[in-house]
Amino acid sequence: MASTYGAAQVLVASNRGPVSYAVGEDGSLNAKRGGGGLVSGLSAIGSDADALWVCSALSDGDREAVRRGVGEDGVRMLDIPADVHADAYNGIANSVLWFVHHMIYQTPLEPVFDAEFRRQWASYETYNRAFAEALAEEAAQGAAVVVQDYHLTLVPGMLRALRPDLRIGHFSHTPWAPPEYFRMLPDDVAGQVLRGMLGADRLGFLTQRWADAFTACAEQFAGGLGGTRIGVHGLGADADFLRKRSHEQDVEERMAALREEIGEGRRTIVRVDRTELSKNIVRGLLAYRRLLQTHAEWRERVVHVAFAYPSRQDLAVYREYTAEVRRVAEEINAEFGTPGWTPVVLNLKDDFARSLAAYRLADVALVNPIRDGMNLVAKEVPVVSDAGCALVLSREAGAFEELAEDAITVNPYDITGTATALHEALSMRPEERAERSKRLAAAATALPPAQWFLDQLDALRG
Ligand code: G6P
Repeated sequence: MASTYGAAQVLVASNRGPVSYAVGEDGSLNAKRGGGGLVSGLSAIGSDADALWVCSALSDGDREAVRRGVGEDGVRMLDIPADVHADAYNGIANSVLWFVHHMIYQTPLEPVFDAEFRRQWASYETYNRAFAEALAEEAAQGAAVVVQDYHLTLVPGMLRALRPDLRIGHFSHTPWAPPEYFRMLPDDVAGQVLRGMLGADRLGFLTQRWADAFTACAEQFAGGLGGTRIGVHGLGADADFLRKRSHEQDVEERMAALREEIGEGRRTIVRVDRTELSKNIVRGLLAYRRLLQTHAEWRERVVHVAFAYPSRQDLAVYREYTAEVRRVAEEINAEFGTPGWTPVVLNLKDDFARSLAAYRLADVALVNPIRDGMNLVAKEVPVVSDAGCALVLSREAGAFEELAEDAITVNPYDITGTATALHEALSMRPEERAERSKRLAAAATALPPAQWFLDQLDALRG
């Protein structure tokens, strides 16, 4: 019996893996490695630990790599048919589950759970099954499996049925919806999601608030948690990596370029986000406009540096949202700009070194999401900041639980309130800013990615 099991002792499953491939003009495959909490977390268990990362092929390059048998040690990419993946990822994960957990439907007209939804849901099941089967094949007897996020909610239950010997964990990097919003899902689908999750031995969340919301859903719609345990692991910033990376040459160069763009002696309000509907970039711009209207003394003296990087551009609402961000930024520049002053410096092209440069010189960081699992930008800026930075933080971000005390906190829907908070942040005395920043950095780095991952493994095995 045991001989039919795989060799991996620790398995991670996520939609997006640590590596992606592109086909070059000459037909060769170029690999690109990604970063993030999971990548540095997994590296903590060492290379001899028989770890395996199971992920999905996302692009044509990825699928080509799988077909050619190209790959990295410790990574197994699943060649899920492109149309099945698109239905599961764009249709269900990003257009339904993401919207539910972030509570961002415009409910008079959406959601509409019709025949098309049912068709996509079937793909989501197929896609989850492909993961469960691959994990069942690769895992050694009694191995630990940590499944990531809303893309893979059905995997724990499916895997449990295939391999009752495994220790199965699931971690949510997003919020979880409260019962009165979650119940918007058709009853059978809501039940499948909850039962899928409850197939795990242990479920991890970023904050107590999201853990409580899940527990409430399980109690109301699935008869309780059963034997499933719940844990909270507030992923922190990777201080060692960030401090080192942010002092490399390319970051210095971008700082010089940014300073030039901003202009001598001006304050900066910085935001860095993936352009997701939940990030509230447009209201951030409206609050900045309100600041310039009501506090004319800041005109010419402040610049809003807004980096809004592309995300999920297959979805029309994301493209429209990006266009709206651009439109409002241009409107503000047209209304207030002068020959020597551009009030909003907007950049839509992803550049990590430039993000770090902006973190270092920020006077104020604006982090105002409608709802956010954690928000690592709120944690990264105080760590990297050169002279200390005032943090304007939404009370709906997971990071609020750990950072509220030294941040200036806002209701993300309240434009006037956010404008006032920006004024307060810009006016903060440098010494106070530096002190608060130091405490924010300490709170932000309390649980570095490696420890975050090891804690979960220990809890799962214990
Ligand atoms: C955000 C969320 C994660 C999610 C990720 C997926 O970072 O916090 O929960 O896994 O988006 O992003 P992707 O680009 O793969 O759709």
